[in-house]
Order: sequence, then structure tokens, then C-alpha cells
Amino acid sequence: MIKTQQFYSLPQSVQSMFPGNKLNFDLLNFVMFKDPHDDRSNSDKRAIIFMDDLNNLVYKEFMKRGKSDADITALLHLQGNPFVPKLYIYEKRDFLIMEKAPGESLLDLIRNKSLTLEELTEIRNQYEILVKSISDSGWSYVDFKLEHLFWDSTAKQATLIDYSIGNEFDSSRVEIIQYLKEESIKHFDSLVAEYNIL
Ligand SMILES: Nc1ncnc2c1ncn2[C@@H]1O[C@H](COP(=O)(O)OP(=O)(O)OP(=O)(O)O)[C@@H](O)[C@H]1O
Ligand SMILES: [Mg+2]
Repeated sequence: MIKTQQFYSLPQSVQSMFPGNKLNFDLLNFVMFKDPHDDRSNSDKRAIIFMDDLNNLVYKEFMKRGKSDADITALLHLQGNPFVPKLYIYEKRDFLIMEKAPGESLLDLIRNKSLTLEELTEIRNQYEILVKSISDSGWSYVDFKLEHLFWDSTAKQATLIDYSIGNEFDSSRVEIIQYLKEESIKHFDSLVAEYNIL
């Protein structure tokens, strides 16, 4: 397994949970995450998620069909972007360990009616900025869902998750960037409109 530069920014106590270069899952605090919005059984999934809420870590293990998914390539491409989870450890085609996005997903916030119009406007603004920064860097993010955008209402910070679908492209292709920006915001608006909260 490979430890990224970000791994060494974790507290010593967390770093020491991952000695050497082999993961001993039994000794870690990860608990399988059951997504209440996802009724597929584990055998139908491309990946299984485990969480360590105490240390804000997420472990994504790729199943047979998900081994070629783009998550690791995408996260490596996008490290340093403030809207993207930090990648700490990975083994290509096998698993990754990343930062747990703080806050709650936009889907939960909308369903629980715990968003003000002001906050929704702020989230939409940050979404526009994050799509621009991701597209400008030459990565196409094409799997936008309300459950993939997290909002930390205290820090007022959005985080985008799930990079399983997407591609690197030549960032000098301005027409691609323009297209991604326009389509992404249209898609965001149409998903939010389904909930009739405005
Ligand atoms: N970094 C993260 N921070 C917080 N929650 C996460 C994070 N990664 C995953 N989750 C939670 O786990 C759920 C499933 O993860 P994710 O969307 O990455 O995979 P998936 O949709 O099950 O698989 P696929 O790779 O097939 O798209 C998310 O909707 C979210 O609730
Ligand atoms: Mg997903």
C-alpha cells in the first residue's frame, strides 16, 4: 500500500494505527457503513464503505466490478483542492483510505428540511466554484448526485465525494471545461428542483 504526503499531516496517534506497509484491518476502528438511501446488497456493489468516525476516516474497498473505477486516479489528480477529500493511503484496484467529508450530504439536509434558502444559495455558489476548479485542472466529474455533496454548516465548507466515474482530459480544451461547467450547474438545479423547497 502507498501512503501519500497527506498521510503524514494526520495526527501521530492516527499515523501510528497504520504501521509498515500492510494494513491490519482487525486492529482498526472501521465499521461498515450502511447507506440508508442505498438498498443494494454488498454483492451488487462496486465498492463497500467503512467508516472510522472517531478519526474522520473513510475506507473504500473495491469489489470485483469496481476495481477499475477512477477514484484513486481522480483523488491523486485533485489533491490540494479544498473541496476534495484528502487521500491518505491507497492500493490500486484494491482500496483507499481518505478523509471523511465533514457535515451532512445535501440530500439529507434537503430531506430533513434543515437548510435555509441562504445556505442553499451559498452551497450552490461553492458548487459552482468547485466544478470550475475541478474542470480547470483537467478532470471531468460526471456523477453528481445530492448525496455526493457534503456541507459543513459550521465551517461553511462544501466537499464533493465519489470519484468512481470521470476522466482526465487536456485542460487546454476550453470547450470541454465550458460544457462541464454549464451542464453541472443545470444538473444541480434540476436535482434540487425535484424537492420543491424554494
Ligand atoms: N469521503 C467520504 N466522506 C463522507 N461520506 C462518505 C465518503 N465517501 C463515501 N461516503 C458515504 O458512503 C456513500 C457511498 O460512497 P460512494 O458514493 O463513494 O460509493 P458508491 O456510490 O456506493 O459506489 P460507486 O463507487 O459504485 O459509486 C456516500 O454516499 C456517502 O454517504
Ligand atoms: Mg455514490
